[in-house]
Amino acid sequence: GTTLGASAAESGRYFGAAVAANKLSDSTYVGILNREFNSVTPENEMKIDATEPTQGQFTFTNADRIVNHARSQGMKVRGHTLAWHSQQPGWMQNMSGTALRNAMLNHVTQVATYYRGKIDSWDVVNEAFADGTTGARRDSNLQRTGDDWIEAAFRAARTADPGAKLCYNDYNTDDWTHAKTQAVYRMVQDFKTRGVPIDCVGLQSHFNSQSPVPSNYQTTLQNFANLGVDVQITELDIEGSGTTQAQNYERVVKACLAVTRCTGITVWGIRDSDSWRASGTPLLFDGSGNKKPAYTSVLNALNLG
Ligand code: G3I
Repeated sequence: GTTLGASAAESGRYFGAAVAANKLSDSTYVGILNREFNSVTPENEMKIDATEPTQGQFTFTNADRIVNHARSQGMKVRGHTLAWHSQQPGWMQNMSGTALRNAMLNHVTQVATYYRGKIDSWDVVNEAFADGTTGARRDSNLQRTGDDWIEAAFRAARTADPGAKLCYNDYNTDDWTHAKTQAVYRMVQDFKTRGVPIDCVGLQSHFNSQSPVPSNYQTTLQNFANLGVDVQITELDIEGSGTTQAQNYERVVKACLAVTRCTGITVWGIRDSDSWRASGTPLLFDGSGNKKPAYTSVLNALNLG
């Protein structure tokens, strides 16, 4: 193939990008999006603060702009995200206990129901495990409603949209030896054993010099897949430039292609200037929309796969 999406599709995979609704009027941005990508993830527009700014009043205007654009172009949509400790609206930040649990479940139900049939994969729960060496759950108001909040969210999402693949999504879960990776693995294993509905694990894969592409990355992808779930690389970006960055991107793509159940890759933005990182050049296109060496290495790796 001659584009990222077409090349990924040759092995039945997608290649996506995080998209911001307010950039859909930028013709350079939309030109690259429509040419290269066959999946989108709304970068912020489906988060809890965006979709339920006032309790019980749902706002889908900006998310719909992205979903409608994607559907008009035949692109898949990854929904991001139904339950998260961050980017909660003020009313939710101030809740606890049964009231918060019920508000969270209502949010999952209402948003997943609104988008039923339009979402390929939902990040049902995002970033629920702590960093560091404990393998513990992250402390948050949602966690304090009880350990079962994650499975409750997955069950509500399945009921609301039985056709969407339901993912658990996190960062720093790329290195197989990391305690956080092991803890997520054990949760997914437990869910599969007990029949809690889960279909996929999202590895965000934000890489930089502090957190490089681990040597055992493919092992991690394969071990999760061996639990009977798909794996998706959901928020890929890699700090750096030139040949080194290109080689790191190539390693990530090759690891995915080597794992049958690694079903797609999403980069977290299109041009370097679109990145959430305040500075740096972590993406596949430069600020002017030109293809970088990393773009070429990704395209070539997809075509060899
Ligand atoms: O839209 C408002 C604007 O109106 C306001 O003037 C401005 C002032 O701060 O803020 C704007 O909102 C910002 C929003 O991005 C849109 O640019 C928020 O402050 C800012 O917090 C938000 O950052 C997002 C971040 O998640 C929030 O946690 C990033 O764009 C987004 O890329 C990032 O994405 C996360 C994933 O959801 C989860 N995994 C990690 C990833 C990177 O942090």
